[in-house]
Amino acid sequence: MAALILFGGGGDLAMRMLLPSLYFLDHDGLLPPELKIIGAARSQETAEDYIAKVRQAVQPRAEAADAWDETSWARLTRRLDYLAVDATDAESLRALKARSGDGPVTSFLAVSPSLYGRIVTAMKTAGLAGPDDRIVLEKPVGRDLESFRAIDDAVAHAFDESQVFRIDHYLGKETVQNLIALRFGNAIFEPLWNNLTIDHVQITIGETVGVGDRWPYYDEYGALRDMVQNHMLQLLCLVAMEPPSDLDPDSVRNEKVKVLRSLRHVTAEDAERVTVRGQYAAGKVEGRPVESYQTERGQPSDTETFVAIRADIDNWRWAGVPFFMRTGKRLAEKRTEIVIQFKPVPHSIFGHGERGDIYDNRLVIELQPDEDISLSVMNKKPGLEQRMQLQPIRMSLSWGQDGKEAAPPRRRVAYERLLLDALNGDSTLFVRRDEAEQAWKWVDELADAWACRECKPLDYAAGSWGPEAADLLLSRTGRKWNVR
Ligand code: BG6
Repeated sequence: MAALILFGGGGDLAMRMLLPSLYFLDHDGLLPPELKIIGAARSQETAEDYIAKVRQAVQPRAEAADAWDETSWARLTRRLDYLAVDATDAESLRALKARSGDGPVTSFLAVSPSLYGRIVTAMKTAGLAGPDDRIVLEKPVGRDLESFRAIDDAVAHAFDESQVFRIDHYLGKETVQNLIALRFGNAIFEPLWNNLTIDHVQITIGETVGVGDRWPYYDEYGALRDMVQNHMLQLLCLVAMEPPSDLDPDSVRNEKVKVLRSLRHVTAEDAERVTVRGQYAAGKVEGRPVESYQTERGQPSDTETFVAIRADIDNWRWAGVPFFMRTGKRLAEKRTEIVIQFKPVPHSIFGHGERGDIYDNRLVIELQPDEDISLSVMNKKPGLEQRMQLQPIRMSLSWGQDGKEAAPPRRRVAYERLLLDALNGDSTLFVRRDEAEQAWKWVDELADAWACRECKPLDYAAGSWGPEAADLLLSRTGRKWNVR
């Protein structure tokens, strides 16, 4: 009988994401029938108390998604168990091993990464790192290349790389996988997917939430390490990678590593030209006044809550095509999108001006708040005017327009797909060691460049789209953000 152990089973990630995901999977009949799920944490409580807490976390989420039913809940509770453990102590973990039975064990570490090294060492001694067992590591693994390697060396001591699943929950998002389908399941995009046709790419991950009481973690990491090193670079890789030969985990990840290796290093001389650091000041978000980061933090801080970067990929496909990335807390909208901006028509036959009223084609891959892929194209305005009038129209490419192909269930949590893949041993959507290393290397160089130039974060009003310098990053080159 297989088991899934959630280390940090009572924590925020487990309650907000992992257990609701497991409920949804079970509700849809996707969990292996015999799978046991064991919450493991320090708190001395009974399995009954734990299950009651899980219900409090899961039920509202499932109700909001119109997916709550007592039968599914009863099925999940039959799988659920809890054990109070000190995860760094092998003796304590032996009891957990005994509780998990004889089958393969997948352990999800949803605890502070500073404990990863000690936990895996204890797991090995306790017999939780056998050849059929797997380990899932939540980000951030390390704070820089050096600390990443230290943790990963400890992991490699206990587990073979094929047993290690480094999670980036952005890869579990439906639209991200749809991007792979769009690029490699259609022949029409590939001939356009290069520097001959594409002018630039934009990736925005905007959040309206502030850092709040997460500052003890966040203040040490900042937006660069919290979002760019992982989510942002993963999205960039999926847009920029060469077609893999198949969907085998290594084929896909080999291509992503090549992109990361081709990223131009940000040097100290370039730091101010190609990057912007920001930190939110007080302002208004969604009509509500909010405090500055430093007020939440309770003391002055130089941590950035916003980053904008112009990245260049030095290879044949992308030479001369800038990738503009920005992410931040307390921005105007919760919005994640990738914009592929195509080049203008070389000559307009319609307008009086040079280009007339033609807008350049744009493919927008929206991940949040809605999931959609849309292409804007020019169309003739209906009518009998003498001079042909044009208008841009937006065509959705993601869900069937005729209503026959169902829209995705709204409730999907990105972790559902990833938990299922980890349980099935499919690592395609997980980050390989060399990929994480390469991403850290690039981020470390950027952080060093900032340190060398003493780049302090620029203030931006909460509720805006970041410092003005982020607009200048594009406008200097005659471009602008899709949303601003
Ligand atoms: C996490 C970051 O990885 O992603 C958070 O640590 C961030 O700071 C979150 O808020 C954003 O995820 P999503 O899925 O809400 O865009």
